[in-house]
Amino acid sequence: MSILEELPKIFNKSKEESEKILSQPYIDSFVHREKIIPKSSEKKFTYQQNWFNQFYQGDNLKVIKKLLEEGYREKIDLIYIDPPFLTKTKYKGKINIRYKEQEDTIEYFAYNDIWKNGLFSYLENLSSRLFLMKELLSEQGTIYVHLDYRTVHYVKILMDQIFGEENFLNEIIWAYKSGGVSQRYYSRKHDTILVYTKGKDYIFNPQKEKSYNRGFKPYRFKGVKEYEDDLGWYTLVNLKDVWQIDMVGRTSRERVGYDTQKPERLLERIILTSSNEGSIVADFFAGSGTTGVVAERFNRKWIMADMGVLSSTTINKRLIENRSFPYYIYKTYRNHKKAGRLSFKEIGIRENEEGIKELYMELNRYGLNLDQIHIENKYKNRIEEILLKDSLSLLDFIGIDIDFDGNTPNLNWQYYRNKDGFNIGPNLSLKLEHIKMGQKIYIRYVDIFGHGNSNLYEIIDGRVVLCQEN
Ligand SMILES: C[S@@+](CC[C@H](N)C(=O)[O-])C[C@H]1O[C@@H](n2cnc3c(N)ncnc32)[C@H](O)[C@@H]1O
Repeated sequence: MSILEELPKIFNKSKEESEKILSQPYIDSFVHREKIIPKSSEKKFTYQQNWFNQFYQGDNLKVIKKLLEEGYREKIDLIYIDPPFLTKTKYKGKINIRYKEQEDTIEYFAYNDIWKNGLFSYLENLSSRLFLMKELLSEQGTIYVHLDYRTVHYVKILMDQIFGEENFLNEIIWAYKSGGVSQRYYSRKHDTILVYTKGKDYIFNPQKEKSYNRGFKPYRFKGVKEYEDDLGWYTLVNLKDVWQIDMVGRTSRERVGYDTQKPERLLERIILTSSNEGSIVADFFAGSGTTGVVAERFNRKWIMADMGVLSSTTINKRLIENRSFPYYIYKTYRNHKKAGRLSFKEIGIRENEEGIKELYMELNRYGLNLDQIHIENKYKNRIEEILLKDSLSLLDFIGIDIDFDGNTPNLNWQYYRNKDGFNIGPNLSLKLEHIKMGQKIYIRYVDIFGHGNSNLYEIIDGRVVLCQEN
């Protein structure tokens, strides 16, 4: 098959596919919704109070359809996507587990970048999504598509067709130093980001960068402002289209352990340039959630989606660690009944030394059905050993709604395994501001494989009684 012959077919097929999706009756497959209110969040909203950021765990095709159905057509000012690059790789994430005095690292599936029909199926998959994303972009909107040498040239042609050649704004070269070298070709040290606008009236807030003077000495030209730093004298110029930004290094503070994590500085430039405060910024291939983290730092609203379980657990913890604004998580399933089950030794209400009522919990063990977990056999024995020695170290997250309204859980208490090896439990307690008869307590727990379940309790005569295990 020749790519020259295939490209028009790919374009037509994905256009048809996107039109079909648009006209199909809408069935909302995101059956589970919960709100996370990071307990240490002290930030104040600077945009409308009634907005909550949104993370969808699921195929972005379904997410885009949902957004289009729910009033987001032409509402998004900036879309940044960093899809798979056709690397023919199965990406895995590393999970460090600390149990007793031991430490172990296992690899767990993150996402697949292997395509049955190679380039053709890759392009079809991406371009049908691009068609739909265009519907979400506002009149002043911009889309950034992050790719590399493998597919960028073909995607450029498709983008010209989908968004219009006249709306092509830039080809940004992101250059970096890390990665491998070869004796047989020049070291591949850049990615390419294609930038298209929806129309002529797009948001563009020019950003500045340093441009060092020759010899790092002052020029003293009339009317030109010059500055000095450790390297020498420089002026500030408008950002050029070649960006030298380091990748997220092994020791970087930003690093969350997600293989293809992009640097916050990269997203900072994009978000500041192509959106305004209060704009909605979306990323439909969110990975570790860099876009959301940076968007909210600059008072933008965000919507993110990713279908990977590892992405979901990574993003959730990253946002909590960042003391993010409250956000919704949507999933296409509620629970993993068959996978794991957390048992409690005790759960009840007591008064602490200061006379304040608190909910206390003593966790017993986490039971996991390994047949339900897609890990390589070599790790199964190791997990079994951990289950015997310290099963609670396999818990990744516990979220609690102490006054569940029976509708959407508001998880305003969170406990999680963090990067420094802090595990959850076994003894947990939290303050109860008020207690009422029949008050419902919702406890959600998720393990390191992203499998989650929830328990529902009711306060009856001062006791905490289990009423439903899901
Ligand atoms: C290159 S990574 C994104 C990394 C991200 N920019 C970051 O800074 O961490 C690509 C992501 O796309 C996700 N993905 C691939 N196909 C998808 C789809 N159809 N729907 C939603 N997510 C998808 C993968 O799970 C993966 O996390």
